[in-house]
Amino acid sequence: MNLLLIGSGGREHALAVKLADSPVLKTLFCAPGNPGIAEVAQCVTIDVADHKAVIDFCRVNGVDLVVVGPEAPLVDGLADSLTDAGIPVFGPSAKAAQLEGSKGFTKALCDRMDIPTAGYGKFNNAPKAKAYIRSQGAPIVIKADGLAAGKGVTVAMTLEEAFAAIDDCFEGAFGEAGAEVVVEEFLEGEEASFFCLCDGTTALPLTTAQDHKRVGEGDSGPNTGGMGAYSPASIMTDALIAETMESIIEPTMQGMADQGMPFTGVLYAGLMLTADGPKLIEYNVRFGDPECQVIMPRLKDDLLLLMKAAADGMLSSMSARWRTQAAATVVLCAPGYPASAQKGSVIRLPKAIDLPEGVTIYHAGTAINGGDLVANGGRVLNVTATGKTVTDALKTAYRAVDMIDWPEGFCRRDIGWREIEREMAEG
Ligand code: AMP
Ligand code: GLY
Repeated sequence: MNLLLIGSGGREHALAVKLADSPVLKTLFCAPGNPGIAEVAQCVTIDVADHKAVIDFCRVNGVDLVVVGPEAPLVDGLADSLTDAGIPVFGPSAKAAQLEGSKGFTKALCDRMDIPTAGYGKFNNAPKAKAYIRSQGAPIVIKADGLAAGKGVTVAMTLEEAFAAIDDCFEGAFGEAGAEVVVEEFLEGEEASFFCLCDGTTALPLTTAQDHKRVGEGDSGPNTGGMGAYSPASIMTDALIAETMESIIEPTMQGMADQGMPFTGVLYAGLMLTADGPKLIEYNVRFGDPECQVIMPRLKDDLLLLMKAAADGMLSSMSARWRTQAAATVVLCAPGYPASAQKGSVIRLPKAIDLPEGVTIYHAGTAINGGDLVANGGRVLNVTATGKTVTDALKTAYRAVDMIDWPEGFCRRDIGWREIEREMAEG
């Protein structure tokens, strides 16, 4: 099979490495890719906003399946255009992608299907939003309705913070995404991410992960796209996974199908494990980044066949098996991230052969400039390792981090701290 993978981040590098492993793969194209992806795929320049250009490329190159990594092209209807052109695609339609693209849409679905989530109000002006906040009190959570690259959420511990976040949204800090605002009950508990592959009817549970959204150690500072992750998250026990499937995932699949927008692709549930059981914080319609980087090294089965089955509505006959090993990833960032990352500093990577066993360095925001590998984004490298435990995997990952010659880069040194504490307590 010939495949076209869309995207350029660490997530897509991890997908590319796993897809490249498939015995049924002939050629893997990636648009636009990055210097790491170029080692396993043929990177091509296509404007993915130009759906006709993507379709033409697929026809000329005999592409059998398109895999869309990030959310933006999905929300923009790329999967619909490909489907209309008769080209199989892994990823949801624009309507189904509203699960990520509109927090209000997901909240309405939760209401209709009785899916456990935080109580909320939805507003299109500041005075009404502030009146609601006053009636609820702090802590409280403010969310720009649309896509804001994971940065449109404020967990306000005081009313003043909440009001400031409302003003930011309506004054355009998140552009169009902030034209409507969801104000949500603050949920207490530990977060976990849960992933399923979906074919419109069947949701095949994959595995769990936890990421660290805050830029600073001890989970401090502003939210980012994710500073590191590990899988599995042992806090998501088999019983909690079963409860999540029954109370959250299955009703979502049913509710989407009932509305004539069956969900295909990756359904990524951000959960809060509260005293009253798992509650949905948010949905994403794609793999997490950097969660994908710790899921792929653990998947035993052929990802390409699983994705093809999802695209063809054939998932009910498939299974996904996992290595017992844990995986962890540490994200290396350019200085200034997340506010404004400085591009251009030179990175010298160790030779692959010198890296500790089980380590893969996935590229995210990198570029080649005059023969040098340089930082070209906020999150730049994902140093990923496997190990018997999350603690072991992280020790190895940090050993590899210390082998990278990039004085300007920074990372968090406490990735996985919750799991490490749990593993220590268990002895
Ligand atoms: P989201 O983009 O919706 O995942 O929100 C980003 C982060 O904000 C989440 O990962 C949580 O840490 C936090 N958050 C979002 N909603 C809530 C909530 N209702 N209660 C507590 N924390 C929340
Ligand atoms: N790491 C969080 C996300 O991909 O949304």
